[in-house]
Amino acid sequence: MANVNFYATLCPGLEDVAAEEIEKLGGRVIEIRQNRGRVFFEGSRKIISIINSYSRILERLNVLLYRGKFSDLNEIYSAVKKLDFEFLKGKTFAVRSMRAGVHDFTSVDVARVAGQAVIDSFMESYGERLKVNLNEPDVIIRVEVVDDELFVGVDTTGDDALHKRWWRVYNHPAHLNATIACAMLILAEWNVKKSLIDPMCGSGTIPIEAALMGRNIPNKRDFAYQRLCSSESDLAKDAGKGEMELYGVEKFRKHLEGAIRNAENAGVADTITFSQGDATKIEGIYDVIITNPPYGLRIWKKGMIRKLYEKFAVAARKCMQEESRLVVITTEHKIFGESVAKVGLSLVHERYVKYGGLITKIMVYSLP
Ligand SMILES: C[S@@+](CC[C@H](N)C(=O)[O-])C[C@H]1O[C@@H](n2cnc3c(N)ncnc32)[C@H](O)[C@@H]1O
Repeated sequence: MANVNFYATLCPGLEDVAAEEIEKLGGRVIEIRQNRGRVFFEGSRKIISIINSYSRILERLNVLLYRGKFSDLNEIYSAVKKLDFEFLKGKTFAVRSMRAGVHDFTSVDVARVAGQAVIDSFMESYGERLKVNLNEPDVIIRVEVVDDELFVGVDTTGDDALHKRWWRVYNHPAHLNATIACAMLILAEWNVKKSLIDPMCGSGTIPIEAALMGRNIPNKRDFAYQRLCSSESDLAKDAGKGEMELYGVEKFRKHLEGAIRNAENAGVADTITFSQGDATKIEGIYDVIITNPPYGLRIWKKGMIRKLYEKFAVAARKCMQEESRLVVITTEHKIFGESVAKVGLSLVHERYVKYGGLITKIMVYSLP
């Protein structure tokens, strides 16, 4: 069967991690758009269900229909109208648009013009007027404009991006995007044999995602492609909890109870030990200490953040051995870097990651 061209979107800054995952899941990466949150690749149709179910890093998987340069709305119309929309026979559709860069039109204009082009193209080729359904379309056509480039694709994931995990029943006000949690686990070189603690675990995103990854449990939700084509792959079996050692510590009972509910819903409550406690007083030795501490954006003042980071760095260092890694994500990376420097840890890796309008940094440390 002929290969299909795809493009995946993800949090900018994680493209290399995503590309590696795509290759592992059977895709052949063609182009990585560094810091633009896009990876282009090809693969068989089967990969649609595999990637939607098993990707930990991606936000959305699209079949690529077109990519090219454009200069105005007329050229968007012409480019879209030239495409063949046979696959929309008997289906309703909606265009979802996105625009980044400086333009003299809005993303609503893009959606309007592209939507008309789809209808006109189909009418010309098949003599029928397609039905638009903005709320619950059978097929979502993505039309994205980035500077002078136009991308047109069929969304196989759906309106909810992949970071919206099925298990999240307790919504922590500052929960971490689950795709970033998984990228942190990969950057920590965590595997099921390594003990892991998140000492400020909030609603449990990091240990829950570790358990799901370790047990090979897929994303259990509906995906857009199921309304369009069959692309079923055999889903692997839950590998079971095995010997995994995962810990989540949280100061506030309300969040801790939420984390436990989330873990129960994910089916991994038996794999994680949650406890109420203080990250600045953790004890024991861990292979991976991984956390998303408060950033100081809400009630936390900068001085309080520095105090917390400094005390946490002291406690974390005591819990590390030769091969241990400390992995942190924060917008306050300068303060965290200074806190860690005081206890003499070495920086192994750092990178910026954008999400939800924030520019954060993931930092990986080891003993010197
Ligand atoms: C940014 S949130 C973590 C969110 C989490 N990664 C999630 O996805 O839900 C930071 C968490 O650290 C907790 N926290 C703050 N100070 C703490 C401390 N000293 N010990 C333990 N937890 C603490 C807060 O209550 C908050 O839940």
